[in-house]
Amino acid sequence: MTLDTAERCSGVKLRGAFMADAPSIERIEAAAFANPNERFPIARIRALLANPRARSIVAESGGNSVGWCVALVRAHANWRSGRVYSLAVDPAMGGLGIGRTLVTTTLDSLASEGVERVYLEARASNTAALSLYTSIGFGVVEPLPDYYGAGIDGVRMRRLPMLGTIPDR
Ligand SMILES: CC(C)(COP(=O)(O)OP(=O)(O)OC[C@H]1O[C@@H](n2cnc3c(N)ncnc32)[C@H](O)[C@@H]1OP(=O)(O)O)[C@@H](O)C(=O)NCCC(=O)NCCS
Repeated sequence: MTLDTAERCSGVKLRGAFMADAPSIERIEAAAFANPNERFPIARIRALLANPRARSIVAESGGNSVGWCVALVRAHANWRSGRVYSLAVDPAMGGLGIGRTLVTTTLDSLASEGVERVYLEARASNTAALSLYTSIGFGVVEPLPDYYGAGIDGVRMRRLPMLGTIPDR
């Protein structure tokens, strides 16, 4: 039987992130990203948690934080864009649907405040992330050579929630 995301995620709760979550988030980032150039140090995490443009959520299981997602909202003249800035799940809890739930919940939240299109960057060789993002409507719009260090390329991806219904920007 194939379990859907909600079933696989049972026992996992999502909530908004607080400043007190910074050490847990740092631990998740360190466990999830082997390359230091891909993860945030705690000072950056604290700055994000304090940023009024940031939308941050954590996933909790058994009282422990096991994943997080943060996106930034940017206001343009008469539209808004979003950028998924980080998504990370504790590898011990990987493959349970937590990453998908974190990012789709974030995208729903951005859409509810009028964000038309969402961007993100990912390592070009990160097959798990690229597979997840592609499955929810992101497409590669730009290669980013050496983005994560010498010889470690990235890609910029974009998701258009209402493809074809808004002018190109
Ligand atoms: C990418 C990441 C967030 C996925 O989180 P997760 O909770 O393990 O993923 P989910 O269980 O929600 O799976 C969602 C999709 O991700 C992809 N995926 C997850 N693990 C995968 C793996 N080991 N190999 C290939 N694809 C994988 C699949 O497309 C999967 O969909 P499916 O279950 O329908 O096949 C997690 O692996 C992680 O934290 N990786 C390190 C940090 C990172 O790369 N963040 C993204 C940076 S841009």
